[in-house]
Amino acid sequence: MLEVEHLSYDIHEEGRQSEILSDISFSVEDGEMLVITGPNGGGKSTLAKLLMGIYTQTGGTIKLDGKDITGFSIDERAKAGMGFAFQQPPRFKGMTVRRLLHLAAGRTLSEDECCNLLSSVGLCAREYIDREADATLSGGEMKRIEIATVLAAHHAICIFDEPEAGIDLWSFSMLVKRFEQIHKEKKESLILISHQERIIRMADRIMVISDGQIESIGKAEEIMPQLFGTEAESCVCRQQKGGDLCGAE
Ligand SMILES: Nc1ncnc2c1ncn2[C@@H]1O[C@H](COP(=O)(O)OP(=O)(O)OP(=O)(O)O)[C@@H](O)[C@H]1O
Ligand SMILES: [Mg+2]
Repeated sequence: MLEVEHLSYDIHEEGRQSEILSDISFSVEDGEMLVITGPNGGGKSTLAKLLMGIYTQTGGTIKLDGKDITGFSIDERAKAGMGFAFQQPPRFKGMTVRRLLHLAAGRTLSEDECCNLLSSVGLCAREYIDREADATLSGGEMKRIEIATVLAAHHAICIFDEPEAGIDLWSFSMLVKRFEQIHKEKKESLILISHQERIIRMADRIMVISDGQIESIGKAEEIMPQLFGTEAESCVCRQQKGGDLCGAE
């Protein structure tokens, strides 16, 4: 179980202090899927980076399975069972996709295991396994390889920041099925940051972050009407917005 209490993050720019996140408290039960959504610039990616230790919080605590991990480094959090896929994945010049998967798994994977991981994100292993994970890969290819690296190891909790971003419809459908499978097995908790209605509708609970604060959090059936309106309104909304909450894709 992940427990976050009173988490805040301030930045200092040109002698001024501004609050990016304030007083964020929530928990994620074992095997639960929490979807975080909300307007652009609301603070979702910042929250994910605080959870993974990429940014250091100004205040608050983070506990995983009862253990206070607030002061843990990124590595220590990964060892404690946290996995993270960035909104914009970093590139690794000089490192092959195969090596990246081995590193993520923490052991040498068999050829079959690498192939299965790459297929689960819609990539043909033969084409990608010996390629460098560098800037020659397209944005969607790199995104899917990064998701495969997170899937390569068992985690207590995985955070995926906009897994849908830049991914084609076919790969997106495969990815949704993979998330559904993880969720059904209940072996891992999932935090999915997303603007996609199809992902939001899979959630056990939904948290809306806006302007650095939790605007609402609750069971999917409670929050969904706030986001999509009633069934009748939702049809109109979806037609107007092309099926996506933010209408951007
Ligand atoms: N290091 C920084 N310096 C200045 N501003 C920052 C910094 N990091 C984040 N911000 C600001 O904090 C706010 C939250 O950013 P964040 O990336 O967390 O938003 P988001 O909810 O993930 O948005 P999106 O839906 O577009 O991905 C934004 O206004 C962003 O410009
Ligand atoms: Mg973001």
